[in-house]
Amino acid sequence: MKHLLTIDDISADEAIGILDTSEAFFEVAKRPVKKVPTLRGKTVINLFYENSTRTRTSFELAGKRMSADVINMSVASSSVKKGESLYDTVKTLEAMHPDIVIVRHGASGAPQYIASRVAFSVINAGDGTHAHPTQALLDAFTLRRARGRIDGLTVAICGDIARSRVARSNALLLTKLGAKVRFVAPRTLLPADSSAYDVEVYEELEAGIAGVDVIMALRIQHERLAGSLLPSLREYSRTFGINDAALSLADPDCLVMHPGPMNRGVEISPEVADSPRSLVLNQVEAGLAVRMALLYLFAGEGADAPAD
Ligand code: NCD
Repeated sequence: MKHLLTIDDISADEAIGILDTSEAFFEVAKRPVKKVPTLRGKTVINLFYENSTRTRTSFELAGKRMSADVINMSVASSSVKKGESLYDTVKTLEAMHPDIVIVRHGASGAPQYIASRVAFSVINAGDGTHAHPTQALLDAFTLRRARGRIDGLTVAICGDIARSRVARSNALLLTKLGAKVRFVAPRTLLPADSSAYDVEVYEELEAGIAGVDVIMALRIQHERLAGSLLPSLREYSRTFGINDAALSLADPDCLVMHPGPMNRGVEISPEVADSPRSLVLNQVEAGLAVRMALLYLFAGEGADAPAD
């Protein structure tokens, strides 16, 4: 496998292999010296056309902790602002012989466009509303650690599913790994292509979260909202927000996830976000381990994974 563009690129066995490799790297972050020589001499470029905190930082740190040379292309201060095309930008980067380029772009399909035109490996760090495969892998890793398994769990993905690349990649990966997935959202936030996924669809929160093992809350994607699809954020938070009242309708041991960044008080209440049921920071911690594992699998050729 040369690129990771969507969850469709990997089989269930390959996904489990990535999660198992991530376990070894998870331990590296707890060592006093958090550096391994695995990617010495390799070059990783972060090419982010959209804002990011978690994904960009964790890819950067993952590369650095593995001794790769990591460059963060700051699109805002690059020649993109002078009008340079995506094609010319990536061909320019290619001439410097990077091994892996991590791409985030507002246009669905941009990583695929790049991957078919360059020699380096491309990892998709989120493209438009299409896919965010590394987020799905880190969510699966978090879930497997918290619950000991993924097979047989029921996961309710709640909120702005229509515009969520996180929801699409999670639906594909979790079902591939044997979980049952529900899409729970008001009709205006459900994707037109729900039937393309092996999911149950609920338009009411109460029924949607009844009996589930995990609720995955999603951010309202203001930047992708063409016109207002919600009467008001207050109304949305009252009817679909994951707060204590909503959780009282779920199983007592139901856990809560959110990919971040959170709109506290909109799709998730501060009490829930900061409660022991919340896996939000576990997801961030997992992100680093999973991205180290991915860099290792894509560029580590022959190097040993750290012993656990
Ligand atoms: C997500 C993204 O960018 O798709 N963030 C992330 O990578 N953790 C979710 C979001 O922006 O809402």
